[in-house]
Parts: sequence; structure tokens; C-alpha cells
Amino acid sequence: MANLLPSSTCTIPDIASVPRHIAVIMDGNGRWAKQRFMPRVAGHQRGVESLREVVVACRDLGVEYLTVFAFSSENWRRPADEVSFLMTLFLKMLEREVTKLHKNNIRLKIIGDRSRFDDKLRQTMQDAEQLTAANTALTLTIAANYGGRWDVMHAVQTMLKEHPDLAQTFTETDLQPYLSMSDAPEPDLFIRTGGEQRISNFMLWQLAYTELYFTDILWPAFGRKELETAIGSYKKRERRFGRTSEQLKGENSA
Ligand code: IPE
Ligand code: IPE
Ligand code: MG
Repeated sequence: MANLLPSSTCTIPDIASVPRHIAVIMDGNGRWAKQRFMPRVAGHQRGVESLREVVVACRDLGVEYLTVFAFSSENWRRPADEVSFLMTLFLKMLEREVTKLHKNNIRLKIIGDRSRFDDKLRQTMQDAEQLTAANTALTLTIAANYGGRWDVMHAVQTMLKEHPDLAQTFTETDLQPYLSMSDAPEPDLFIRTGGEQRISNFMLWQLAYTELYFTDILWPAFGRKELETAIGSYKKRERRFGRTSEQLKGENSA
């Protein structure tokens, strides 16, 4: 299958332009609340407002894809009441925000293993995706019960179910259509708020050549201005994808 999307090994995106795809680990909600002597869940609630602001800012700036990590496959290990609060918040957010997203021409997608979510949440996810499927201003992808390893394993399993003959011979190009983000270019910029400098099992495959940006700012305090700072940092990078700096400048076109 021909891959029409820029791959991490082919086209070098123009660094002067806004990143086409930004991936975000929205971290630090609990600490934000704790600093204010509030329960952790108040930080999650406030985090939804940051997401709203960042979505609008991305659309205004001309970002085509925004992918955010809302709940990892490891987050089930948290106390039951926090997990249950997050599920309710997710459901309410979908119900409340989807018409606004639709009016703003934003397409909503959800990636991750949905089998652990209840029927109502699964149905609401599907309805939201269907309603916004034809929108074109920005694709907002929410990763929920998502893990990078799950993504790769799931893709391999699905591919082999459909094409058992490929077991010995499959290539990256064969696998590509089965990965969660197969219809998007790979992220240009990865942002993690909250001070931790790790990937925490987010988009392991797709982040292969993404520019990484870490900030101590906690997610509920992150907004348009902070996003613009991150993009400013991105624009100063030199993306080489294995080549030399001289090659990129056309000094040595070997
Ligand atoms: C990120 O904030 C949100 C989720 C993981 C759901 P945290 O809840 O991890 O906040 P900290 O890292 O404990 O501050
Ligand atoms: C990563 O944050 C997942 C999300 C933001 C949804 P965590 O706070 O769960 O990550 P770790 O466990 O500290 O690495
Ligand atoms: Mg955290």
C-alpha cells in the first residue's frame, strides 16, 4: 500500500511552519490541586479547561492534528474513586463539548482499548466520532485507555488475522494501516507538562522522530501562551532524520 503521508524516514517537514501534528501528555493535574489544598480531582476538572483553550489555539494557529493523552492503560492502577471520577468526567466532557467541537468544524477521534469502558461511554464516544467525522479544521484525538505497546500489539494481531500469509514477511508499510494513528502524519512536536521527562507508554511507534518538549508547568496552568512558547522552541530545532546538517543546508547533496 502506498504511503502518502510524510514518514519519519522520508520528507523533512518545513521547520519554519507550525507543526502539523502536536501530541501532548497532559500531566500535573493532581499536583496543581494539591498546591491549592484541593482534592486531586479538582485538578482534572480544571485540566478540561486547559484542553479547551489548547484546542482552540491549535485550530487558530493552523495545527491539523492535536493528540492528547487523557488516560493511560496504566492509570487503572490509581485509587478506584479517582478512576471512577475520571470516567464520569470523560463522559460529561464528551456530552457537553461535542456540539461545540462540531460547530467549530473540529473532528473528534478516540484511540485506545475501549473494551474496559461501560456501554454508555462507548456509545457516547461512537456518537461523538460519527457526528464530527466530516469536519476539517482540526482533528482532535483523545487517547483513552491507550498504551503505545498495546497499539503496536493490537496492530500486529489485527493485521495477522486479516493476512495470516504475512506472518514471516510483513513490513512497516504492511503494519501502518493497522496502527491507531494510521490516518495522520507522525507528530512533529511532543509536549509533556508537569515536569516529568518520560514518554509513559504514549505513542511509542509514532514518536520515533518527534521533537520532544518538556515543561515544568502543570497542565491546568497550561494555555495558549505556553503552547506558543512550545511551538517557538520547536521552530528552533533542526530535524535531520538521520542526515547531516550539511546535507540539509544543501552544502553536500550526496
Ligand atoms: C494527569 O495528571 C492526568 C491523568 C493522568 C489522568 P496527574 O493526575 O497524573 O497529575 P500528577 O502527575 O499526579 O500531578
Ligand atoms: C501519563 O501521566 C498519562 C496521562 C497524562 C494520561 P501519568 O501521570 O499517569 O504518568 P506517570 O505514571 O507519572 O509516568
Ligand atoms: Mg501524573
